[in-house]
Amino acid sequence: MNYSQAMERLRSCGQEHVLAGWNRLGAKARRGLLAQVEQIDPASVRRCQAALKAGGATADSSKGVAPKVAVLSGAFRRKAVEAGERELRAGRVAALLVAGGQGSRLGYDGPKGCYSIGPVTGAPLFYFHARKILARSRRYGAPIPFYVMTSEANNAATVRCFVENAYFGLNPKDVFFFTQGMWPGMTKDGKIILDEPGHVFMSPDGHGGLLAALKKSGALDDMKRRGISSVFFFQVDNPLVEVADPAFVGYHVMQKSSYSLKLCAKRDPKEKVGMPMRFGKTFRMVEYTEMTDEQCNRRKKDGSLYFLYGSPAIHVFDRAFLAREAAKAMPLHLAFKKIPVFDGTKVVKPSEPNGYKFEKFIFDILPNATRAAFLAFDPADEFSPLKNAEGSDSPATCQADLRAKWLRALAEAGVSVPPGVPLEIDPAYALDAADIRARGLQLRL
Ligand code: UD1
Repeated sequence: MNYSQAMERLRSCGQEHVLAGWNRLGAKARRGLLAQVEQIDPASVRRCQAALKAGGATADSSKGVAPKVAVLSGAFRRKAVEAGERELRAGRVAALLVAGGQGSRLGYDGPKGCYSIGPVTGAPLFYFHARKILARSRRYGAPIPFYVMTSEANNAATVRCFVENAYFGLNPKDVFFFTQGMWPGMTKDGKIILDEPGHVFMSPDGHGGLLAALKKSGALDDMKRRGISSVFFFQVDNPLVEVADPAFVGYHVMQKSSYSLKLCAKRDPKEKVGMPMRFGKTFRMVEYTEMTDEQCNRRKKDGSLYFLYGSPAIHVFDRAFLAREAAKAMPLHLAFKKIPVFDGTKVVKPSEPNGYKFEKFIFDILPNATRAAFLAFDPADEFSPLKNAEGSDSPATCQADLRAKWLRALAEAGVSVPPGVPLEIDPAYALDAADIRARGLQLRL
């Protein structure tokens, strides 16, 4: 792209000011700016401007009702597990990880997946995800291709982490990295913000950017070519997640669902998790920020919460459904943030929010699902997200929850561990109590 092409593109969406300082830029800065303008799609800019005018993608949730949520047990659970195992044996299951976020709350300056969480080895979050995939693909004798979404900011460091760790034992041919898109930040009047001379402020387009990125990168075609039908989606920050869990995959397949969600009972009425609600025949995810106090605290006759189940963002998608949705535009959500601004002479760091970032959320495709299914699970076994440096959802709570889970599996296999003994289990050594038993594990102190 050259200067006049860039100008033409920017003019078509009222953003000529982006090139205002062109004459003062050196050759390298000019190349950088042209590369940024090349990423700016005028149609998307106009959608962002429209979202600003409309105030973003929020909707009235007052008419929402709680969805029917299945709990698997006994023979029904066994049937679901068998159905999932059939999918895994046939190689029809893929794992899809969103790891493009910036992890600013954790205060860690790198991809969150590289954060050291193994209590004994210091292994990173990616290790636990990848080793579970390895364990299941060995158990069922078929590859589980692993699609990892990164962002421009963390792609190189993510790939490096996999390479330096020999892909955690996975076959590199079955690991597919792809990078999500970036959106320019805007003032409330819909003008693109320059945060440095000749540099547009851009931020990742949210985990919903997944669909466009899956399509653009060829990952969707790759899934099709491999005969994938069920796509297990998860977030990078949860070391407890049971990646490609056969019970969940099997339940999804048995329900002929396009979009299935694992849900867990909220720990308190105001817990910061999204809640799926039913509106007539369709479902929609309602973020905790969109719920009224009355909804958060509403109780059933037996005293339990009416909107009990929140989403930890563990999903299974039908691959064909993802492909259909990838062809559509998704709603845009606004985040009002403090964004540094180059005002033509100097960079101003604001003390109050002054500009907007735009994000897409993957769960916004839920209303388009021809069939959706909801499955309850115990968060003690599968959900302990790493969000903060201290307090709740921190490294300390994740490690305590991992340890408690390992101790339960060891106890179930008849192995008792004295208190205080450091403990870590490689998922590829033992995924569960059955593996521990099969290994004939004896604890030597
Ligand atoms: C998210 C969900 C919330 C859910 C909770 C469970 C949203 C808006 N909210 O909250 O409903 O209950 O997780 O832990 O999603 N990511 C990208 N690219 C981006 C932004 C995020 O890949 O541009 C990835 C992150 O790397 C992470 C995941 O998406 O794996 C979640 O992002 P995060 O910002 O941590 O979401 P939460 O606000 O914690």
